[in-house]
Amino acid sequence: MASSSSSFSSGAKAAMAALLAVVCLLNCGSHDAEAAALCVDYYDCTCPDAYKIVQGVLVEAHKSDTRIFASLIRLHFHDCFVQGCDASLLLDTFPGFESEKDARPNNGSARGYGVVDAAKAALEKACPGVVSCADILALAAEISVVLSGGPGWNVLLGRLDSKTSNIAGAQNLPGPTDGLKNLTLKFNAVGLDTTDLVALSGAHTFGRVQCQFVTDRLYNFSGTNQPDPTLNAAYRSFLIQR
Ligand code: HEM
Ligand SMILES: *[C@@H]1O[C@H](CO)[C@@H](O)[C@H](O)[C@H]1NC(C)=O
Ligand SMILES: *[C@@H]1O[C@H](CO)[C@@H](O)[C@H](O)[C@H]1NC(C)=O
Ligand SMILES: *[C@@H]1O[C@H](CO)[C@@H](O)[C@H](O)[C@H]1NC(C)=O
Repeated sequence: MASSSSSFSSGAKAAMAALLAVVCLLNCGSHDAEAAALCVDYYDCTCPDAYKIVQGVLVEAHKSDTRIFASLIRLHFHDCFVQGCDASLLLDTFPGFESEKDARPNNGSARGYGVVDAAKAALEKACPGVVSCADILALAAEISVVLSGGPGWNVLLGRLDSKTSNIAGAQNLPGPTDGLKNLTLKFNAVGLDTTDLVALSGAHTFGRVQCQFVTDRLYNFSGTNQPDPTLNAAYRSFLIQR
C-alpha cells in the first residue's frame, strides 16, 4: 500500500485535490474577522503543522527551563481573563500605550514570553501571517499539560489578536489575597462557575510561587501571629523548609 497514490489516474487525483479543497473550506469555516466560530481544524489548510511546530518549540524550551510548561499555562489564563483570549497580554509598552505585562498580577511573575515569541517566529517561517498569538497561547497551554503527563484535548482555534490592551482588566485579575467571594465573582464575570474555579485552580499543582505570597499564612495569618489554621501542618512544615 506504500505507493497507493500511484494507482490513481491523474484525473482522479485532480478530482481528489478539488474535493480536499472543498473539505478544507468547509472545515476551516470563514476566516473573515469576527465571523467565524472557533474550530479544531482551523489551520488544517493554511498551517497544517501548527500544533507540531509549537510542540517542538516547547520541548526545546523545556530542556533549559523545566518550569516553562507551568508558566505558559498561566499566560493563557492571564490572557483569557482580560477581554477574552486575544493575546492582549503580549502587547508591549510604548509611548502612550500601557502593556498588561506591567500590571501587578503580571509584573515580576508572568513569564514565558520569549518562548511564545519563539513559537511565533517558527510559525511565521512555516506559514507567514496565519497563526494568531492568541491561538499560540491556547495551543501552548494544552501542549504543556500533555507534556507534563496530563490529558490532552482538542484545542479550538481561530482566535484573533487584539490591538488594544486592558490595564484595568489586568489589574483586576484574581489575586492571592482575594477571598472566596471575590474569586467567585471574578470567575462568574467571565462565565465560569465554582466547579470551574476549583478545577482550574488545579493548575497550581505545578509551577512556582514566590515566598511573599505565602509567608503570612505560615507565620502571621491575618495579623494573628499564628499560622493559617486551615493550612495542613505537614504541608506547612514542607513550605517553611522550602
Ligand atoms: C483562582 C485564582 C487564582 C489566583 C489567586 C492565582 C494566583 C497565583 C499566584 C499568586 C501565583 C504565583 C506567582 C508568583 O509568585 O510568581 C500563581 C502561579 C501560577 N498560577 Fe495561578 N492563580 C489563580 C488561578 C489560576 C488558574 C485558573 C490557572 C490556570 C488554569 C493558574 C495557573 C498558575 C500556574 C501554572 C502558576 C505557576 C506559574 C509559574 O511557575 O511560572 N492559576 N497563581
Ligand atoms: C515592574 O517590576 C519592576 C521590578 O520589581 C519594577 O522596577 C517596575 O517599576 C515595575 N513596573 C511597574 C509598571 O510597576
Ligand atoms: C472584594 O473586592 C473588593 C473590591 O476590590 C474589596 O473591597 C473587598 O474587600 C473584597 N472582599 C473580599 C472578601 O475579598
Ligand atoms: C503580623 O501582621 C500584622 C498585621 O499585618 C503586623 O502588624 C505585625 O507586625 C506582624 N507580626 C510580625 C511578627 O511580623
